[in-house]
Amino acid sequence: MIKQAIIPLAGLGTRLLPLTSVFPKELLPINGKPGIEYILDECIDAGVKEIIFIISKKKEMIRKYFNNDNFYKSIIKKKKDPRIIKEYKKILFYKKKIKYVYQNKPLGTGDAVLKTKKLIKNNYFLMLLPDDLIMKKNCSKDMVKIHKKYKASVMASMKVKKNNVDRWGIYSINKNYDKSNFKISDVIEKPNAEDAPSNNAVIGRYILPKKIFNYLKNQKKGKGNEIHITDAIRRMILDKNLFIGHKFKGNYLDCGSMNGYINSGIEISKI
Ligand code: G1P
Repeated sequence: MIKQAIIPLAGLGTRLLPLTSVFPKELLPINGKPGIEYILDECIDAGVKEIIFIISKKKEMIRKYFNNDNFYKSIIKKKKDPRIIKEYKKILFYKKKIKYVYQNKPLGTGDAVLKTKKLIKNNYFLMLLPDDLIMKKNCSKDMVKIHKKYKASVMASMKVKKNNVDRWGIYSINKNYDKSNFKISDVIEKPNAEDAPSNNAVIGRYILPKKIFNYLKNQKKGKGNEIHITDAIRRMILDKNLFIGHKFKGNYLDCGSMNGYINSGIEISKI
């Protein structure tokens, strides 16, 4: 069973400036609800019991958002507004499930994952990248099913435009298991168009094995001088560990760029 999820939240959010100069991007509202709550709802609905937030000192506001009991209590005491009571109950529900670790230097997603090493209990865990919203169909839930069937690691996949491959991790496909799932033979972080083996991109949902920590411990820096999870996964694949790519059915929304963020609100308001 996948009982734990990790969410890297230490990113600076520079692509969303000026909105993120004081405010964490994951708390920005998307159709009236902070982006992070969509991510929490997805993984809780997929059966996750504990969520590890990887934050930084600069992103303490996220911790405060989920631990603001006194504020809610004082408001509710003065005014028994059912809406506020409901919101507070929701925050408490999340709060009970969240643990925090710190990544104070932005050294990359691989480094963020490594920070959770001591807290991961089972052989596999889920990772969700908060910039990637997937609506209408729970991608994590479907990936958990694939993981159970194949007893393997799973990553979400989507076709992207060929001239845009250098924005993503890109897969080489070994064979297709069925219409939605394939065996990954390689994965490259943000390749140039001429080096890209396909236009099947990694989207921010991963079921990773605990074993990945052994690879991350000595993972060298890659593109942009960061430690990439993709590079550690690549070494695991070359060591014959099975990683499955899952073409998800839901609607993908990119919340990490300004146009994407604006569009996400519009799209979610239509659902
Ligand atoms: C990260 C990963 C990349 C993946 C992407 C999905 O990139 O490194 O492989 O395709 O998430 O959103 P980032 O968005 O942090 O640049």
